[in-house]
Amino acid sequence: MAKAALAIFSTLCIVAAMAGSGSCLPGESFTVKGKVYCDPCHLKFETRISENIADAVVKLECRNMTTEKVTYTKETKTGADGTYSMMVEGEHEDEICDVTVEKSPREDCKEAAAGLEKAQVVLSDNVGMHSNVRYANPLFFMKEKVSKDCAKVMKELDFVPLEM
Ligand SMILES: *[C@@H]1O[C@H](CO)[C@@H](O)[C@H](O)[C@H]1NC(C)=O
Repeated sequence: MAKAALAIFSTLCIVAAMAGSGSCLPGESFTVKGKVYCDPCHLKFETRISENIADAVVKLECRNMTTEKVTYTKETKTGADGTYSMMVEGEHEDEICDVTVEKSPREDCKEAAAGLEKAQVVLSDNVGMHSNVRYANPLFFMKEKVSKDCAKVMKELDFVPLEM
């Protein structure tokens, strides 16, 4: 009986792995989710007038922490709502993994937001997280000119540049 149950379990496991849906054993795979924004205000954070960037190519790369050799890469595209979700196989302990968007697909919003075209993600079970979903920090591109609605948005947010 136990043998039969085990056989069924491992069959389900293989099916789940082939379908790329979730994990059947913890730590086997991760889902990385995130969003790519167009920032019309050069604020580098999300506001109510931020726009979604659809069709942006998001690349995940993991590197060996000591040798810096690339150990894993995967690409996906953002949907109409600017979000992406990708399945990453395996445990990536002792590796540095990050998601990057090299190029904006939008002509009107393609200025790099220094440092915010890249976000690090931890793809290891060994960090006290109980879910296999990892949310990467949002990635941004900026419009060349600050939109005239931004002053109002900043006022609403009580956003005052630090003077201290
Ligand atoms: C990183 O590379 C070193 C040297 O080749 C190797 O010993 C180590 O196992 C690698 N680490 C991972 C996580 O692949």
